[in-house]
Amino acid sequence: MATQETAVVDPLTQTKLTRVSRQPGMYDRFSTAMKSFRVLKDLTPEQVDSFMKSYVIYDLDWANEKQMIEVLGPDYQKKVGACLSDYYAVLNHLCAIGELEKMYVPPILDASVSVLANQILYEGLVAEELQLPPNAHVLDIGCGRGRVAAHMTEMTDAKVTGLNIDTDQLASAVAYNKLMGYSNDFIHQDMNELPLPFANEQFDGFYQVQAFSLCKDLPKLCGEVYRVLKPGSRVSLLDWASLEAYNPDDPHHQELMRAVKPIIGAVGTPTPESMVAALEGAGFRMIRHYVGGINGLQAPFLERLKSYFYTARWAMQGLTTVGLLPMHFRTLFNRMTQDSDAFIEADKSRLITTCYHWVAEKPLRNAGGLKSASPLSSEDSVKFDSSASSDNEYVHADTPASSQDSLAPMSSAKA
Ligand SMILES: C[S@@+](CC[C@H](N)C(=O)[O-])C[C@H]1O[C@@H](n2cnc3c(N)ncnc32)[C@H](O)[C@@H]1O
Repeated sequence: MATQETAVVDPLTQTKLTRVSRQPGMYDRFSTAMKSFRVLKDLTPEQVDSFMKSYVIYDLDWANEKQMIEVLGPDYQKKVGACLSDYYAVLNHLCAIGELEKMYVPPILDASVSVLANQILYEGLVAEELQLPPNAHVLDIGCGRGRVAAHMTEMTDAKVTGLNIDTDQLASAVAYNKLMGYSNDFIHQDMNELPLPFANEQFDGFYQVQAFSLCKDLPKLCGEVYRVLKPGSRVSLLDWASLEAYNPDDPHHQELMRAVKPIIGAVGTPTPESMVAALEGAGFRMIRHYVGGINGLQAPFLERLKSYFYTARWAMQGLTTVGLLPMHFRTLFNRMTQDSDAFIEADKSRLITTCYHWVAEKPLRNAGGLKSASPLSSEDSVKFDSSASSDNEYVHADTPASSQDSLAPMSSAKA
């Protein structure tokens, strides 16, 4: 691990950040890339086929249920879940070969440093704005390979519970957090299968990084997040959104949107306002929301990533042609790099962004009792307790735990 010091002022909130983080050095990055390279090399034809077929969901949208049923059948939600698992089980390795082991393009906070360094800065901002108490317990939905969770623990000492639909990433999250000496736990769960497997008021904070684009019902999920947070807790969200300039009746905009959704990996199309409505409807009080980063543009990073992945694609074409790599490398890299120009154009035209940032708070209990807007029934909301955690093993959320002891205050996250 290498130690890295970063300092930045968030252009919008003027929050000053100076962070010293233990981050992967050159050797760690190389070793991670090699591991993912080997996984990709050993993919079976069925896995490659499932990955390619999973893209069907990005031509659909949660908002158009009729089309979902026509294409995927009445149990479309489960089918989308299966496609998401197939997609991310491969994509996380494609991303880990490059600079995107944490699978998100961050807001540009300092254009002179790398995408990874900006992820670190962004995560510092999240740690700051969550205002966590000592020994906090934080929830991360769509937790990737648990690298953001580990960074959060490093910065705040909080224990993080990460939730993911993909067991491949969960295994990596468990191994990495164990290596770092953190007792964070990771749970196998589809965020669209509600209720969440947690007790009421279990967490002191919540963040999600570019994962709610896969959420079927934002108001319902926000209601669940509200339920599992203690009063006074904050939430921090970073996600994609279509912006005011996007005109759904403009054929060119439609074309760009069709091309962009598979690259972002988005099934839903939230707007800044729909997310605010979902949060406020659940009972949260908005603190701020804005397009993150300098000028609100991500194009400079998208161009950088495009040039990296195009070079990789070019190399794969050569290596597969001479038979040094299996042909499926070409298939995967071609698919992954498809339509990146549309993404850059949509960003530059400010039709969409993947770095919209929302910060909100669950109000403190008042004399009249806690306002709860959770759309789930009270029966649902007490169905699980918090002991569905384990020491560095991911658990299947459909195994409800029984002990009420888990509602006792959390101990330090450090193992
Ligand atoms: C675009 S990535 C976001 C980056 C991620 N937060 C990270 O730290 O790398 C989306 C993440 O959400 C997870 N995910 C996708 N659909 C999900 C679902 N329905 N339920 C839970 N997790 C999901 C993916 O496996 C992936 O880890």
